[in-house]
Amino acid sequence: MKITILYGGKSGEHEVSLVSAASVARNIDFSKHSINLIGITKEGKWFYQEDSELQRIKKDKTASLQIKEKYPVVIVPGGSKQNAIQVENNGKYINLYTDIVFPVLHGTFGEDGTIQGLFEMAELPYVGCGTMASSLTMDKEKTKQIWENANLPIVPYICAKKYQSEDKTEFENLLEQVNSKFGYNVFVKPCCAGSSVGASKASDKTSLEKAILEAFKWDDKILIEECVNAREIECSVTGNDNPVAYIPGEIAPTHEFYDYDAKYTDPNGASLLIPANLDEETIKQVQTIAVQAYKSLDASGLSRVDFFLDKNSGKLMLNEINTMPGFTSISMFPKMCEAAGLKYADLIEEVLQLGINRFEKKRELLTSR
Ligand SMILES: Nc1ncnc2c1ncn2[C@@H]1O[C@H](COP(=O)(O)OP(=O)(O)O)[C@@H](O)[C@H]1O
Ligand SMILES: [Mg+2]
Repeated sequence: MKITILYGGKSGEHEVSLVSAASVARNIDFSKHSINLIGITKEGKWFYQEDSELQRIKKDKTASLQIKEKYPVVIVPGGSKQNAIQVENNGKYINLYTDIVFPVLHGTFGEDGTIQGLFEMAELPYVGCGTMASSLTMDKEKTKQIWENANLPIVPYICAKKYQSEDKTEFENLLEQVNSKFGYNVFVKPCCAGSSVGASKASDKTSLEKAILEAFKWDDKILIEECVNAREIECSVTGNDNPVAYIPGEIAPTHEFYDYDAKYTDPNGASLLIPANLDEETIKQVQTIAVQAYKSLDASGLSRVDFFLDKNSGKLMLNEINTMPGFTSISMFPKMCEAAGLKYADLIEEVLQLGINRFEKKRELLTSR
């Protein structure tokens, strides 16, 4: 197959994508497939990359992908494998044949349904969740509502909108509502951000006010949750109609919580433990709930389902789901699959096939009478 890998992106996780995508690109089975590389700049511009970029990262196993802004890319709605993607060269448009697109993109415009909508319009098969699941899971409130409705365990929360912080009386009411439901020991985070940006703990009225205002810098909708004292357990899931869960892992942050620095800048910010040290029964429970959580959102392809395991009560709760989790060969997602016997290269093959299968099935549906 001809696989078009998209990487970079107009997102706070642009740099992570450059590493994830390089890892994916060099682990594709080149006896079966070949690759086109398209880099998306931080401004959101798309550029086709010459083959030398692929050769460079294949030679240097530690290199991350770069983006040369030389050949702009055009997407044609209602296109085909032959011409849905075109590359401009000196005013001429050249077709870039593509059997499937692999958007190795994290966060906004990559994981939130927008690019998935573009692939649907262009009639291109793609790896990962569809438009609706991608955009739903980007919104932590909507995700929780669906899980609650499916009787799945979540962390109790209050959702607040920005206008509530802009009016003095509304703001006081909100602070009072939080205090009467949870007290002041709460965790505050934006609804539709990632990478722990804008997230913080509160312990009294003043720090709660500060935490709320900080979260509203990143989104106009926020969650105020019961602050859990919990282990952070993660579980990889792949599949379309019959998803499977792999061996759970654990993130043990050395910071107050798994904040931005613990994730990206501090090399000792967290230990990744795979497999997580859990008893058989808890592992089963994590896997069962992970699959239910995945199915309730109509996820497809792949996702990483993140949990809290309360250190005091032993209660397992869903935290969030990531539809395009970190995908370097040493990231949690592939490592948890590997712990269950699915090697990195086979995982890539698996998610490609799932993307093709979903596309073929959808193509059987009527679109007009
Ligand atoms: N209710 C909570 N109680 C305590 N810590 C939390 C809570 N919610 C999130 N956290 C901490 O913040 C981190 C980031 O929150 P998360 O909901 O996973 O958002 P993100 O999309 O930014 O990863 C979590 O990994 C955890 O360390
Ligand atoms: Mg998280």
